[in-house]
Amino acid sequence: MASYDLVVIGTGPGGYVCAVRAAQLGMKVAVVEKNPTLGGTCLNVGCMPSKALLHASEMFEEAAHSFAKMGVSVSAPKLDLPSMMNFKQQGIDGNVKGVDFLMKKNKIDVLKGAGKIVGAGKVEVSANGSTQTIETKNIVIATGSDIARLKGIEIDEKRIVSSTGALSLEKVPERLLIIGAGVIGLELGSVWKRLGAEVMVVEFLDRILPGMDGEIAKQFQRILEKQGFAFKLGTKVTAVDTSGKTLLAKVEPAAGGASETIEADVVLVAIGRVPFTDGLGLKEAGVALDNRGRVQIDPHFATTVKGIYAIGDVVAGPMLAHKAEDEGVAVAEIIAGQAGHVNYDVIPGVVYTTPEVSSIGKTEEELKQAGIAYTVGKFPFTANGRSKVNQTTEGFVKILADAKTDRVLGVHIIGREAGEMIHEAAVLMEFGGSAEDLARTCHAHPTRSEAIKEAALAVGKRAIHM
Ligand code: FAD
Ligand code: NAI
Repeated sequence: MASYDLVVIGTGPGGYVCAVRAAQLGMKVAVVEKNPTLGGTCLNVGCMPSKALLHASEMFEEAAHSFAKMGVSVSAPKLDLPSMMNFKQQGIDGNVKGVDFLMKKNKIDVLKGAGKIVGAGKVEVSANGSTQTIETKNIVIATGSDIARLKGIEIDEKRIVSSTGALSLEKVPERLLIIGAGVIGLELGSVWKRLGAEVMVVEFLDRILPGMDGEIAKQFQRILEKQGFAFKLGTKVTAVDTSGKTLLAKVEPAAGGASETIEADVVLVAIGRVPFTDGLGLKEAGVALDNRGRVQIDPHFATTVKGIYAIGDVVAGPMLAHKAEDEGVAVAEIIAGQAGHVNYDVIPGVVYTTPEVSSIGKTEEELKQAGIAYTVGKFPFTANGRSKVNQTTEGFVKILADAKTDRVLGVHIIGREAGEMIHEAAVLMEFGGSAEDLARTCHAHPTRSEAIKEAALAVGKRAIHM
């Protein structure tokens, strides 16, 4: 029987990064993966394919609507959807091959098949009717998450789709109805909107992007509406009639009331994701779940069974690839006897639309609720030179600093490249920096990042360009 120091079940960003870090620390490591390719949700049907389509559809949109004003005259772009899907697939393949390479480079055994824990220190791997059992000192569960479903609305991945189907539609739907104004709904809605679909988003709550700063979400909604998105907030879809050529969605106010019917060609269900633990044998092994079906862990990622740990989407916390990766590194270090750690107060979140939305730390709503006195510094991209010359002035930077100590508690940005810009705030906050530190840091001119410096100056009421 093969024997290891560590077996990681699942090779998403949590699992494969954990395996690499453990191998770097001298452990003999194997990963178990039930999918034909490594990389998990993120590389195969999540972050990467969605970003490829967001990029390609943005280029399509720019060619159609932005080139002419810069004096670049091109004929109206034509959509070749199969080629765009091919572009997406090439991106997926490149990244997946990259993970294969990392496994080889770090001498990590890749066991293809479904993993099941059959007692502490034993993992059974089943594929194509055959089963092998391997021994290991430690197990990390990194089995990720699956789409959340709506009762009575069956996903066929053709007309009623999850994000997976929405990443591979064979033609642009005339009318796309999206259930859920979260990250997936707004990113994939943007893709199909740019490619020509009419997009309507039905959201249960009275706002979009729950969890993001309210002021940013409001402005984002206005910008999306200007782009042609239609929103029905405080509304739920209760059924979808699939009997005819057109889908008929029954919607009603979230609080109940008269229903109406919305016609659509494709319905995207994007109401969140749920932890995936099917077939892992957790109950028999004694690994406890919490009340939301997530693997229960202590602050050191240890489950209720000694030698079994869990990370990523399958445990509590934001379902984000970089959170899973950092937990992968931390748990490998902990298993190796080091002090692995993740700072959950400083995890950036990005919505990769145009403009992008990025966020780190506390929102204004959270600070109010916690009774923390804070100062706000804001700076609009309309006053940022680089944004002006590029004529991409939508959005603003908002910095929230502790009123007494000036320590930066949250940074929220809506604007082009906001997803890249957020990281200077991340570094500052990791070091417990203040708005004054940021305001006194020299920023290259002309860059969009100068808007961050100006927002930091605005905390002290001394922005220069406003
Ligand atoms: P996963 O990536 O889900 O990987 C789990 C792996 O475990 C899978 O490969 C699965 O096959 C395998 N597995 C499960 N059970 C078993 C078993 N019993 N035996 C063997 N293998 C098993 N996050 C971001 O940070 N940025 C983004 O831009 C972003 N975009 C997204 C877009 C979409 C459309 C979706 C759906 C998600 C997106 N996410 C994004 C979220 C991100 O994909 C997840 O947070 C991330 O993949 C979680 O990583 P993980 O390692 O925990 O699990
Ligand atoms: P989400 O949690 O972001 O949004 C789901 C939305 O659906 C919420 O606004 C919620 O109020 C709404 N909703 C729930 N039930 C509803 C109902 N019955 N009717 C109408 N609305 C309803 O989940 P989403 O967008 O599905 O994404 C899943 C996960 O994937 C997220 O946790 C996210 O972190 C991750 N992800 C991250 C991305 C990124 O980092 N850029 C991109 C895509 C996904």
